[in-house]
Amino acid sequence: MNMAPDLTAPPSLEVSGLAFAYPDGHQALFGVDLTVARGERLALLGPNGAGKTTLVLHLNGILDAGAGTVRVAGLPVEKRNLAEIRRRVGIVFQDPDDQLFMPTVREDVAFGPAAAGLRGPELADRVVRALERVGMAAYAARPPHHLSFGQRRRVAVATVLAMEPEILVLDEPSSNLDPASRRELADIVRSLDVTVLMVTHDLPYALELCPRAAVLSDGVIAADGTTQELLCDDALMRAHRLELPFGFDPRSVTVPVR
Ligand SMILES: Nc1ncnc2c1ncn2[C@@H]1O[C@H](COP(=O)(O)OP(=O)(O)O)[C@@H](O)[C@H]1O
Ligand SMILES: [Mg+2]
Repeated sequence: MNMAPDLTAPPSLEVSGLAFAYPDGHQALFGVDLTVARGERLALLGPNGAGKTTLVLHLNGILDAGAGTVRVAGLPVEKRNLAEIRRRVGIVFQDPDDQLFMPTVREDVAFGPAAAGLRGPELADRVVRALERVGMAAYAARPPHHLSFGQRRRVAVATVLAMEPEILVLDEPSSNLDPASRRELADIVRSLDVTVLMVTHDLPYALELCPRAAVLSDGVIAADGTTQELLCDDALMRAHRLELPFGFDPRSVTVPVR
């Protein structure tokens, strides 16, 4: 089960005053402040182009802040900490094929822990446990490209869980999933005892999985509150081009307490 947010531990993620412009001069982030407590599950909502992926790329130092700071469990994201930061921040990118490149599922999941120095039975055990957590242990010997898209996304989740991250970051996890795969992934996310930052414009998915949400719009956090509160705020939703699916009423949903 998911743990209760631990407010005595340093926050899993602390973003403060983060601003960033791409080399072509396009400014994507204008001073983002966002804190995620250990054990919390936060949905980061926002329309296309809001800067969500740009923010995610700062969390493990793929992009380098123009201004402001990012800390992961108290550790600043900066060059001298990058190896440790990349172990702590597990990012599952939108396209699993960006993440899976080995001949078998087992080797893909072993890749990170092996690079971090794990060997032998310890490594094998880490791989099995990560695959079990996503229900893919039976596929360890299979080539990733023989799996369905939903299965590949689950293996991508296992590759980052195998690193035992401080925070699991999912960029649009429900995109391109059929309803059954979407449901299976939700069950997996709910079963993990790890801090989760879920970037999505799938609002029912956010409501189902994340007690708290923040809206990123035009490069700033425009709202931060309980997911239900935000989704029920029609003016807020409209102002940031966030649309609920036809017939979906966020008021009628019983939401998880944590
Ligand atoms: N490599 C890049 N160079 C220049 N502008 C970019 C680049 N990547 C993204 N952008 C721009 O930055 C803004 C934020 O993009 P992104 O973070 O991908 O948004 P989101 O993930 O919320 O859809 C958009 O206006 C996008 O066009
Ligand atoms: Mg994106």
